[in-house]
Amino acid sequence: MMTLAIIGGTGLTQISELHITGRQQIDTPYGQASADFIHGELNGKSVVFLARHGNPHRIPPHKINYRANIWGLQALGITQIVAVAAVGGISDEMAPSRIAVPDQLIDYSYGREHTFFADDLEEVTHIDFTQPYTPALRQRLLAAADNAGIEVINYGTYGCTQGPRLETGAEIIRLERDGCDVVGMTGMPEAALARELNIDYAALAVVANWAAGKTEGEITMAEIERHLQKGMADTMNLLKKLIAG
Ligand code: HPA
Repeated sequence: MMTLAIIGGTGLTQISELHITGRQQIDTPYGQASADFIHGELNGKSVVFLARHGNPHRIPPHKINYRANIWGLQALGITQIVAVAAVGGISDEMAPSRIAVPDQLIDYSYGREHTFFADDLEEVTHIDFTQPYTPALRQRLLAAADNAGIEVINYGTYGCTQGPRLETGAEIIRLERDGCDVVGMTGMPEAALARELNIDYAALAVVANWAAGKTEGEITMAEIERHLQKGMADTMNLLKKLIAG
């Protein structure tokens, strides 16, 4: 049986219309998860929801206890995670309010607890991470988007920066040169930790703004919130098809 979890990011702290059947705190060897794990049902199908930044939204990207979040989901028997994350758009196609299903990532974050394979090991373990997003789960997201009539972008290299500040113009030029299409702050180590525990993982990257230097002027929180409203409404409809389908 596939057991699905949604990790919601900025702009998605809950799923409307989800019939909530329970809330659970889990003690993990890594400490506290970001929030209670919410058990819910939609059309009789079950799903677990976790607010990555806490509820209310208060934990910045570099302070998220990614290990507790992923370990907790595994403890609940979750085998598939769909991660929703706000991003800045770098490539021309990645315009604000659009949704991408990334297929690659580059990690620029640092100083985060990024592995389960550090202490008390019987042997050193290196996971394969050639395809950081599970291809079959990506396909399910694309099919759900199709069902919901939402045009998502079927590619993208996600650059994960440290935050919480946004990037400089030069940093975005560098990311673009590296091949990044979108930039966010929470994609890693989340994706790698899921792989370490053998949990399928794919992402919906919701574009909140043009990345630094891509437009004139400053990036404002008001702009981010405005674009996210539309992007997250589409995301919600897509997720409903995914859960119910
Ligand atoms: N950079 C990094 N993370 C983000 C951005 C951005 O421009 N927008 C939303 N999350």
